[in-house]
Amino acid sequence: MVRQLKTRILITRAVFDEVLAYLRLHFDVEDNQSDVPFSADELVRKLADKDGALTVPTDRIDGALLKACPTLKAVCNIAVGYNNIDLDACTAAGVMACNTPGVLDDTTADTAWALMLATARRVVESDAWLRRGEWTGWSLQDWLGTDVHHANLGIIGMGRIGQAVGRRARGFDMQVIYHNRHRLPIDVEKAANAQYVSKEALLGSADFVVLTLPYALENHHYIAEAELALMKPTAILINIARGGLVDDAALVDALQTGRIAGAGLDVFENEPALNPAFIQLDNVVLTPHIGSATRATRLRMAMLAAQNLVLALTGGTPPNLLNPNV
Ligand code: DGY
Repeated sequence: MVRQLKTRILITRAVFDEVLAYLRLHFDVEDNQSDVPFSADELVRKLADKDGALTVPTDRIDGALLKACPTLKAVCNIAVGYNNIDLDACTAAGVMACNTPGVLDDTTADTAWALMLATARRVVESDAWLRRGEWTGWSLQDWLGTDVHHANLGIIGMGRIGQAVGRRARGFDMQVIYHNRHRLPIDVEKAANAQYVSKEALLGSADFVVLTLPYALENHHYIAEAELALMKPTAILINIARGGLVDDAALVDALQTGRIAGAGLDVFENEPALNPAFIQLDNVVLTPHIGSATRATRLRMAMLAAQNLVLALTGGTPPNLLNPNV
């Protein structure tokens, strides 16, 4: 009797037990609950005999990998961003690629606000000072920060996350301006409480510039020396989108010279390595790519990615298929 082989998948990093159990109902699963990232070579070796993969933003899925893994049919990323996946190469290889949009918008927007408030009101810097035992008493002019309320909020990239950032500004009585590849329909602008302006106008007038646009090669260093030079010296830059959108060396320079007032950064060029100069700067708040990191949201993301994978490998159409031409 010939034994029917179960469809085989790889989960590249540790996932919640619920997700693992769900995938085991459907597939023969190789997991990585130790959570130690695979090297590029290991990833190729592990995927060489798999039908599908549940991946994370640090897994590079490119043409060379796909060539070495001919049985692969689907790659489902646990992230809304998919700049780690070469979509054209996937399409050419007949591999479905999926992401997890919609389930992390509010959590990621909250992170933008956490960084805005923490940077403007010097929360991290004053917390460290207090813990060092340097507080000897209240003083009128200690720890003066920047007002967030009634300020001008500039959002670059007005997709779901950008709109969620904008909606939150209502409670702070802020004016919201945005820049996006395409202007949004008027009703969406109204709901997001935002007015469309050019990139230059936004950079020149925003007190807070929040980046929520996806990374693509054409917007590498979207914020570099020239853009930082347009910003107000009192302005604060927030990046919750992707490293690589900002030229970190130029940003360090702008922060060191007071060209801009501060930055709240959740993502970095070459992360997890970061420009060491950031560590020395008091006017920067740094978080380790935690934009979507609440248990509820990360579970929703991982479950959605798992559901995408099940549909992709059982003859269905995953709801978040990025390359429908496949
Ligand atoms: C995403 O979903 O793209 C996030 O960056 C991962 O947390």
